[in-house]
Amino acid sequence: MSGIISKEHRSVNLKNIKKYTPGFNIHDIQKKYKLKKVIKLASNENPFVSNDVLSFIKKSNHKLNLYPESNPDELHKLLADTVGHRMTRNNIILGNGSNEILEFIVRAKVDNKSEVIIPKHSFLVYEIISKLQNAKIIVTKPDNDKASENYLGINLESVIKKITKKTKLIFIANPANPTGTYIDLSKIDNFLQSLPKNTSVIIDEAYYEYLNPKINKTAVSLINKYKNLYVTRSFSKIYGLASLRVGYGISSRDNISILKNYKQPFNSNLFAQKAALLALKDFKFTRVSKENNDIARIKLTELFNRLSIDYLGTYCNFITFRAGKRSKQLFEYLLKNGVIVRPLTNYGLTDYLRVSLGTPHDNNIFIKHMKLFYSDKI
Ligand SMILES: Cc1ncc(COP(=O)(O)O)c(C=O)c1O
Repeated sequence: MSGIISKEHRSVNLKNIKKYTPGFNIHDIQKKYKLKKVIKLASNENPFVSNDVLSFIKKSNHKLNLYPESNPDELHKLLADTVGHRMTRNNIILGNGSNEILEFIVRAKVDNKSEVIIPKHSFLVYEIISKLQNAKIIVTKPDNDKASENYLGINLESVIKKITKKTKLIFIANPANPTGTYIDLSKIDNFLQSLPKNTSVIIDEAYYEYLNPKINKTAVSLINKYKNLYVTRSFSKIYGLASLRVGYGISSRDNISILKNYKQPFNSNLFAQKAALLALKDFKFTRVSKENNDIARIKLTELFNRLSIDYLGTYCNFITFRAGKRSKQLFEYLLKNGVIVRPLTNYGLTDYLRVSLGTPHDNNIFIKHMKLFYSDKI
């Protein structure tokens, strides 16, 4: 798409909007390099799917001819119980992926007179959807303290400095993609306290379930305290349902009721709704997924340490590592050997690559090729 969309008092120049480039897909790489087996560690998906979800999908009596429920009550109720903190079904909105919820919030809050603050190295969708509302994007400096665990992550002081009367929305991913960094809830609380009332904040918790809930607390606990707070969650990560597109937003009753005006009646499909319900109830699956992720994280950080490769925060189901000047060469070497990782040039991290944590088998293949590429370092 290119050109100008005009709409009375606003016009969006699509040429100014960077396109979102998804990770390469397995089929294309198989074809390009004539490979039988290709593994994808590029899009932060869970390598596993719940057996309960698989058994449901395999059934043959789905009512495919009927529209799905518009507001599936049981799922809303279970989501409210799952997030806790006195949330009810009226605090929840279901989306076609959490991306759709981000879009609802932007459309509800932002127009061509607004400024939107997006911390440097944030998830690219934030910029795309804000620019589609013709908002002015204000990018803030990252944390540049190399000794800090939050290196290149979100610098809340820098965000506060950029707030003006026009700031309508601030995006904070916690933990963040692609930096993998996490900000303590007490800092988020202080940050929210310092904001003007007409500035809304999205705390994007797409990777929340990979954290340690005893230490890393959710911003859902602050929803009753701040009227301008929205939290988003995804089923694409630990729940293993990226292909079905389902996510949700949590906010005050009033905010959710406004967001529902932006929701199409059937924005989440039958399979997404039922699979989300089953995955939420399958505690064993999420526990095993998290355990696998924790083990993979240890293995890969050991590898990076051994190869003297710097890496960023490790709070999610991926690790972003500094391949330096050889980053492009390494990316292509891995591709040729059937391993897809993610280049991060689009995110302003040219020297870095991001690898998702996969099955033990896939991680071992990645480790093997990393060792071969860096054989001079071992
Ligand atoms: C920070 C962040 N937010 C949101 C999303 C989108 O999630 P969903 O698949 O639920 O739309 C992603 C996906 O990678 C992400 O990294």
